[in-house]
Parts: sequence; C-alpha cells; structure tokens
Amino acid sequence: MARFDFFSQDAKRNPFPALRAVREAGPLVEVNFPIVGKAYLATTWASVGDFLKGHDLFAADARNAGKSNVLGFWWAPRMVRILAQTMLTLDDPDHRRLRKLVDAPFRRDRIEAMRPVVARIADELLDEMEASGDLDLVRGFARELPLRVISEMLGLEAEERQRVTQWMSEFSSVTSIVSVARILQIIGKMMNYFRAEFARRRMDPRPGLVTELVQAEADGDRLSEDELLAMVFLLFIAGHETTTHLISTSVLDLLEHPDQLDLLKSDPSIMSNAVEELHRHNSPVQATKPRMARRDMDFHGVHLKQGDRVFGLLASANADPAHFADPERLDLRRNNVRHAGYGGGMHLCLGMHLARVETEVALERLLKRWPSLSLAVPAGQLRWLPRPGMRGPMTLPLQVAGLRKRSRAA
Ligand code: HEM
Repeated sequence: MARFDFFSQDAKRNPFPALRAVREAGPLVEVNFPIVGKAYLATTWASVGDFLKGHDLFAADARNAGKSNVLGFWWAPRMVRILAQTMLTLDDPDHRRLRKLVDAPFRRDRIEAMRPVVARIADELLDEMEASGDLDLVRGFARELPLRVISEMLGLEAEERQRVTQWMSEFSSVTSIVSVARILQIIGKMMNYFRAEFARRRMDPRPGLVTELVQAEADGDRLSEDELLAMVFLLFIAGHETTTHLISTSVLDLLEHPDQLDLLKSDPSIMSNAVEELHRHNSPVQATKPRMARRDMDFHGVHLKQGDRVFGLLASANADPAHFADPERLDLRRNNVRHAGYGGGMHLCLGMHLARVETEVALERLLKRWPSLSLAVPAGQLRWLPRPGMRGPMTLPLQVAGLRKRSRAA
C-alpha cells in the first residue's frame, strides 16, 4: 500500500506534492489512517464527483452499510453517539427531514441580507485587535468572526455568547489525541447549557434559530431533544472552524502572492470570484466525512466490499489538472472557478452562502482597514493545525505599518 504525507507540517504548508502523488496512484486509492484504519480516497475531479453524488452506492449512516451503529465505531461514547446523529451522518429520508428544518435560514437571499451584520462584527473585531495591540489574525479575527455570526443567528444573548464562543474556541484549538478528555468535558458543559437553553426558549421564545428549532420540535414532534442538541452542535462545529481556516489561509495566500493582492485591492469588484479561487487553491476542508460502501461493488476500477470506508479528497479534486488549467497557480480572475470545497450531492454544505459572505466581508473590511498589512514572521515559521482533513495555520501574526487607533468608520 502506497504511503502519502498529508499530515506533516510541510504537507499542510504545501499540500500540492502529496495531492499530485495520490492522484497519480489512481482515482480511488487504498490508504491506512490512524484510528480509522483501512480506507479509500477518491482523488480526481471525476471520482470525487461520482462519489459525492453516488448516494445509491455510498451511505453516510454506517447502519446502511451493514454496521451496527451510525458511526460504525462500537466504542464511541454515548455522548458522542448522540451528537453524531446529524444530517451529515444520516441518509435520506432521515437526512431530508433534518435538513428541511434549517434550509430556509441558510438560503442565499436570507444570508445576503446579513452582510451588514457580518461587517459590523468584522469591524468590532478589528477595533478590538487595534485596542489590544495583538495582531494574531487567527485569534483575534478569523476564529471569532464565524463564532459571533453563528451565535447571533442562533439568537444567543450577548453574555451567553461569550461563554459559548470561549468553549468553542477551546474546542477548536485542541490539537492532540491526549486532549480527548478535555474535549469530552467541554462537550458535556455545552450539552448541559443547551438543554437548559431549550427549556428557557420553550418558556420564553426569543428571535433566533434556536427558538425556531425548538418550535419545530413542538410542532408535530419532528425533532427529539437529542436531535435538537445534535443540530445546534453541528451548526456550531461545521459553521465556524471551516470558515476560520478559509479566512486565514486566504489572507496568507494573498500575502504570499503580492501581485494578486494588489489586483484585489485595485479592483474589489472581483471579490466574489477571488474568494472562490482562494477557496479552491487552499481547500481548508481537505476531505469529506467518510461514507461506507452499501454493498460489494467496483468503483473507478477498484473492488470495494460492503462497509469499506471512502473519503472524497476535495483538495485533490480542486487541484486536478484534468479539470483546472494550471491548478497550483493562484489566479483570482480564473474563469472556471466552481470547485468541490463545499462537497456536493445531498450533503452539499448547508452554510456555503454564509461562509462566502463571511469571507468576502472579512477580506473587504481587513484590506480597507489595514491596506499595508504584512506577515510579522516568515511564512515558513508558521505552525499548522495538525488535524486530519483540515488545513489552517494555528496563528497568523500580522504587522501593519503606522498602526494607530482608528475609528470604526475609517
Ligand atoms: C469555508 C467554510 C466551509 C466549508 C469549506 C465547508 C465545507 C463543507 C463540506 C465539504 C461539507 C460536506 C461534507 C461531506 O460531504 O462529508 C459540508 C457540510 C455541511 N456544512 Fe459546511 N463548510 C463551511 C461552512 C459552513 C457553515 C458556515 C455552516 C453553517 C453554519 C456549515 C454547515 C454545514 C452543514 C450543516 C453540513 C451538512 C450538510 C448535510 O449533510 O446536508 N458549513 N460543509
């Protein structure tokens, strides 16, 4: 079995050599991962596309592929099993029932209307960074922005928001398997907090997604308390770390390509195409969650047995020269920029419009406020999150020439 380096610091910093190597090994490649064990990777634009749309071939719910529980790991703690029963780990019709409840608030028109809210939060964070003098973009901006936005969408009160965002920040900065006990502790605290919050919302409905979901539960018994918990958790987890890494890798990529940065500064009208290209080029979510073969079958020339785990390597599809001309080049004006970074098929990212708006607004506010920003350390010294499937720097220290306290309207 061939070995590929996806997890080292070098591979996180520059994933293209490993992605090239794995694509050259074939459209479906057998690998061996820690914890997961034997698995397969779909590697090309074509095989990843067939994998994402092949719901009759692959199941997200392991029970539809001959296993005894949804995750396929009998040893997963009960707490984790409750939270794992989300639309992301279920197949239709369960998936459709859950997704229908949250589709509307994440529709493009509803999210577009949130631009001013996102801009206000971005400006507040930049103010706070200037006031504190701490210019680590990950800590002060990229991690906080999506957390504050999703907290507002859910309708958490300001004081509660701070507590929850602190738990989530801690959750996402955990990087080693040794920290599993700490993660379980935080999950426990959040579960207690949200169960109490659901009870409060039943008594005293306030505007926000949590109230909408609680009411959906009351209205026709459609969402159990455990499903409600799993849903809110999924929105938090899926909705913040991913966007954090899109914002931070985008800023870093721009700083490493000054010609492209100048282009964006001189023509902000290309922002939406630029964010799609930055997403394609960086693929902060490198792979899908696993799916399992529903039955024994051949897929892209490889024989799979029922229950075999397959991941879609989105980062590799996004760098496939069979689909993208000169894929390793960053080209903010690229024509064909539709990429696989949000997945596809029925699990296509629910929050993609939100992630786009957040990243576009983040870059716009950041470049407007600090047009002369640069990296405070050589890029080679940055540490990358060692987490499988995610790609983002752990810190991004910036420097800004002549930084003085400025007003929010600047
Ligand atoms: C740059 C930011 C983001 C990226 C790269 C991203 C990427 C993805 C990907 C690749 C999937 C599919 C995973 C799979 O097939 O296994 C997915 C699903 C999902 N994402 Fe995102 N996501 C982002 C932001 C968000 C945001 C902001 C939210 C919501 C607040 C969100 C909520 C979800 C949910 C709920 C699913 C499951 C959808 C389903 O199973 O039907 N994501 N995301």
